[in-house]
Amino acid sequence: MNERSRPFQSVDDVQQALRDQSYLADHGLGVAIHLALSLDKPLLLEGEAGVGKTEVAKALSAALSRRLIRLQCYEGIDASQALYEWDYSRQLIAVRALQAEDAARHLGDLFGEQFLVERPLLAAIRAGDSAVLLVDELDRADDEFEAFLLEVLSEFAVTIPEIGRVAAARPPAVVITSNRTRELHDALKRRCLYHWIDHPTLEREVEIIRVRAPEVPEELAQQVAAAVARIRQLDVAKRPGVAESIDWAHALAFLGADALDGEAAGATLGAVLKDHEDLEMVRSSLARVVGSDG
Ligand SMILES: Nc1ncnc2c1ncn2[C@@H]1O[C@H](COP(=O)(O)OP(=O)(O)OP(=O)(O)O)[C@@H](O)[C@H]1O
Ligand SMILES: [Mg+2]
Repeated sequence: MNERSRPFQSVDDVQQALRDQSYLADHGLGVAIHLALSLDKPLLLEGEAGVGKTEVAKALSAALSRRLIRLQCYEGIDASQALYEWDYSRQLIAVRALQAEDAARHLGDLFGEQFLVERPLLAAIRAGDSAVLLVDELDRADDEFEAFLLEVLSEFAVTIPEIGRVAAARPPAVVITSNRTRELHDALKRRCLYHWIDHPTLEREVEIIRVRAPEVPEELAQQVAAAVARIRQLDVAKRPGVAESIDWAHALAFLGADALDGEAAGATLGAVLKDHEDLEMVRSSLARVVGSDG
């Protein structure tokens, strides 16, 4: 195996490189990343909202000094929006600028590089292993798009009829994320290495808060992490992610709170819960959530 396909020597290496980018990966995630990069497989990350799926790709691209190419999926996304399109309005202007007889002769030029609009997948194919491709929230796209993506991921090549074949010499690192609003297909999963990102342990979450919100005192970080862990155990509709813990800690520190009591929590609860019913429920058991009821 050559050097380029193994940017990290060990799982520890992976964890340290990500830590240098302020991302704390646990051992399981470190193994998944190490394997995906070494075996040239896409890494499929699933997990609840805000557990740090998208951030893996960002931290990885920074750690590897590779360009991050992001394909944000959404309902109705299709191949041309993901791969390439022709710039129709520029083509039209070009045609108008030509005399009628010239236009016929120059028709081929209208489908040249200067009229091609590169979308993330084509950019990733061209960039090859100098990029990290993030396919974010694939569960939002429909089945058809998923099948198309699978095709691209197996070849890392595309034939543009007017231009020719474009192929990656070496595939980019690929991170795919899903919030599991629908199940992805087995065919796609089979091609990937899979890792489920769980909510972090209490100690890990404190550490993450300290890294991401360094102005927050240790004790406050601990209280926030503990309170968020308790909220997650309640029957809330939207369990807060790590992102919310960080936001909450920022908000509390900004308001000058040095401890999480019922009053401070009540005033800043909107940083951690974004659902009206959830807010009401947690408000009614604030003392228990902040751990001040003994
Ligand atoms: N392990 C971690 N180490 C450091 N920061 C983290 C970690 N996990 C999450 N974060 C922080 O939480 C924020 C949210 O993470 P991210 O956006 O990656 O979550 P997500 O799983 O993609 O969420 P969503 O499903 O809502 O898209 C990040 O910006 C980052 O600051
Ligand atoms: Mg995300």
